[in-house]
Amino acid sequence: MHYLQIQGGAKLSGEVAISGAKNAALPLIALTLLAKNELKLTNVPNVADIKTLAQLLVNLGASCEFEDPNTLKVNTSSVNSTMANYDIVRKMRASILTLGPLLSRFGHCEVSLPGGCAIGQRPIDLHLSALEKMGANIEIKQGYIVASAPNGLNGARIVFDKITVTGSENIIMAAALAHGTTRLLNVAKEPEVVQVCEILKASGINIEGIGTSELVIEGSGQRLLTIPDIKVIPDRIEAGTYLCAGAITNSKITVTKVNAKHMLAVIAKLEEMGFGIEIDDDKITISPAKEIKPCEIITTEYPGFPTDMQAQFMALALVANGVSVIDERLFENRFMHVSELARMGADIRLNGHIASVYGGSELNSADVMATDLRASSALILAALVAKGETRVHRIYHLDRGYENLELKFKQLGANITRLEE
Ligand code: EPZ
Repeated sequence: MHYLQIQGGAKLSGEVAISGAKNAALPLIALTLLAKNELKLTNVPNVADIKTLAQLLVNLGASCEFEDPNTLKVNTSSVNSTMANYDIVRKMRASILTLGPLLSRFGHCEVSLPGGCAIGQRPIDLHLSALEKMGANIEIKQGYIVASAPNGLNGARIVFDKITVTGSENIIMAAALAHGTTRLLNVAKEPEVVQVCEILKASGINIEGIGTSELVIEGSGQRLLTIPDIKVIPDRIEAGTYLCAGAITNSKITVTKVNAKHMLAVIAKLEEMGFGIEIDDDKITISPAKEIKPCEIITTEYPGFPTDMQAQFMALALVANGVSVIDERLFENRFMHVSELARMGADIRLNGHIASVYGGSELNSADVMATDLRASSALILAALVAKGETRVHRIYHLDRGYENLELKFKQLGANITRLEE
């Protein structure tokens, strides 16, 4: 197992290029199950979760080949299995994204139920009830979702009780191959969901309301689609994480190959805290604050402040001049980083889903444990300003979603080394 060793105290500078978004690439790879043609996805981040989903497609009978680390060539015409097995799903919950495409294409599938995870219970009831509304019969057998709709799914009117990102993606993909029209209300509007819709549109599906909370999708009636090559959108969470690295070290850095329009809530929060932000085409530059002010954050669905940036801003709040308040509204257990940050001397007080972060106390190095993807990046951020050498263990969490993490940090001037336990 690897760990990262970080010597705190370095100022950062320079540029870092942002990779394609993991959370966009995952549904787009699942979307290839609806294609009759071979296609290429470019700007795919070279991270563990992507390889896991590619492996799942191969297990189903597809051919998936990396032409280079960021280009995936996929052909699902040879798929001859509809079972997403436990061994893969337990590695990555996003495997659930194959449920909608497999069921709509084949009329049946068996997808292992993802269990709970480090950040919360994460039920998938909304995915299942929407598919039932579309005529699927769903049973849970031996830990598997056994779904069938022998004559295909039918269009339906579905109101999501809660906004769900992968739930929306799953049902949008299912609706694309359904018989008739599906009307979806209270759909997620995340840029990753929007890209799925745009690719479907470019594949000939009539889809109205893209980018809004109400979508009307005319299904193809189980006719497979000709899907064009896809360039994955930039990773707004990776970009936000590096901006936080600039912020916490109060340095001037630039993230490139980003889409600032996808990051308005994060940018606004950095500005509120006193940092300078300059946007130039696909680049964002952050400049030091005269005084780092505390912040108030409520995580919510896009375009609000993303839960996937909550841990990083908590680390950042530790260097603010005052008390920040962070209200985590999406996941019930997304504060696992708090006790690890406390090992570094952080003063963070939890009251249910609200954290009060007392900025200003000196952070010290320690051995700390990554618990989930974003929690791990918060530990790295704190380590950048801690006195001494911090070791972040269990970094396989980071490798799931951050491409070339230590190389990118090194490029910015951080003292960071990957070592073997
Ligand atoms: C996606 O997870 C992301 N994952 C997560 O990224 C992200 O944190 C999350 O959206 C919220 O933005 C991918 O895109 C692969 P949800 P998802 O369904 O779709 C509840 C990362 O670090 N809910 O939008 O699983 C749920 O419990 C991660 O990259 C139900 O109650 O999240 C939560 O409270 C981790 N029933 C809320 O909705 C359901 O059927 C939002 O979850 C589905 C969800």
